[in-house]
Amino acid sequence: MTNTMYFLFLCAFLSAVTAYWHPDLPPGPYCGIDNKCCKDREDGCSHRIIDTLCYCDEFCDRYHDDCCPDYQKVCRHEDVQPLPFLNPCIHGGKFYLEGETRRVDCNTCKCVRVSDTTLSWSCENDPCIMDSDVIFGVNRGSSWRAYNYTQFQGRKLKDGLVFKLGTLPLSRETRLMGPIRHDKDINYPTHFDARERWPNYISPVVDQEWCGSDWAISIATVASDRFAIQSNGAESMVLSPQSLVSCNRNQQRGCHGGHIDVAWNFVRGKGIVDEECFPYKAADTKCPFRSKGNLIEAGCRIPVKQRTSKYKVAPPGRLSNERDIMYDIMDSGPVQAVMTVYQDFFHYRDGVYRRSPYGNQHMKGLHSVRIVGWGEERGEKYWIVANSWGCNWGENGYFRILRGANEADIESFVVTVLCDVTRAYQKK
Ligand SMILES: *[C@@H]1O[C@H](CO)[C@@H](O)[C@H](O)[C@H]1NC(C)=O
Repeated sequence: MTNTMYFLFLCAFLSAVTAYWHPDLPPGPYCGIDNKCCKDREDGCSHRIIDTLCYCDEFCDRYHDDCCPDYQKVCRHEDVQPLPFLNPCIHGGKFYLEGETRRVDCNTCKCVRVSDTTLSWSCENDPCIMDSDVIFGVNRGSSWRAYNYTQFQGRKLKDGLVFKLGTLPLSRETRLMGPIRHDKDINYPTHFDARERWPNYISPVVDQEWCGSDWAISIATVASDRFAIQSNGAESMVLSPQSLVSCNRNQQRGCHGGHIDVAWNFVRGKGIVDEECFPYKAADTKCPFRSKGNLIEAGCRIPVKQRTSKYKVAPPGRLSNERDIMYDIMDSGPVQAVMTVYQDFFHYRDGVYRRSPYGNQHMKGLHSVRIVGWGEERGEKYWIVANSWGCNWGENGYFRILRGANEADIESFVVTVLCDVTRAYQKK
């Protein structure tokens, strides 16, 4: 390395740590030897320090320090108090100043001052959503496969449990929701898929993005599907989850979660509009609707045969066993289910999900989804369920989960509803 290169390196190195770095050079006259200070770099104003040349010139003038420790004093006639030597933060061969940060996966490390002379890294240590133990553990052999999803990279598990889910704990009132018993002794098909049974009536998978609105999405999509099915296609549209997120504010927390019984009551009492007239925004926006006039001006669809201007449902009911859930889906459309989500579920790619022993076993959240059917694979019974994490997640936005074993609590709180459609639509 030539002296010039070394000198440039030294200057660059010093400038990287400007305000605090005080090179540990022996004090003494450098610029002061012959009191020569230059505007530009000239060899005449260089001095040998340790192993390199130092220039007493403006090019190398730094805030507190220069290559030449006496530059300020000799060339600028300033008396600078030397700052104490400060140990910088170091990572990957780079120096960081107080307040600077770097990312380690989903966590942030900040360079903080721990004493008068020492800076040190202070790092968050939260579990991230994506975890290599889950990916390797699950893929070593189970009924489903795990995948490292881009959409979850660099995200904390605690944020995923709030903003990728969104169902608030079921209250005592919620649990009292009227039970519905079908008790039908019929032969159920091995395979049933609402998308095949009613190809034009089943609403597409939504991407809730980073908004805890699963409660609104599962209700809006279950209601959409059921309106279309129960009206024989007369009311075939997609209902707007945003009208719940934005307009059902009482007792609800928008993108920070919602109670499903409160939301169903809102759809029953106040009603919601269609997706085209109030598209999904993944944010807590203001509710734009006040009166019927507004709705039509806003280009909203008005129910064909309803007395009201918005889409309303009858009181929801609770299904409490596998056969009743199956009967209900076959008879009147997809149902809503509340499941418990642990870290491994975020990794689901395909197959029949069952909870694995990998990943964080303590952090969990409630998630509302839409069951659209069932099937069997290699003797294993499963539900077919629509998630709300976009079409690139799972099996085109859907997942399959073990059926008949209350896997991840998926059979513990299943909600069905009849849509407020008049006799005019009833099946012949
Ligand atoms: C996921 O992929 C990203 C990008 O390739 C990588 O940086 C990250 O370490 C991976 N995460 C896991 C848990 O494998």
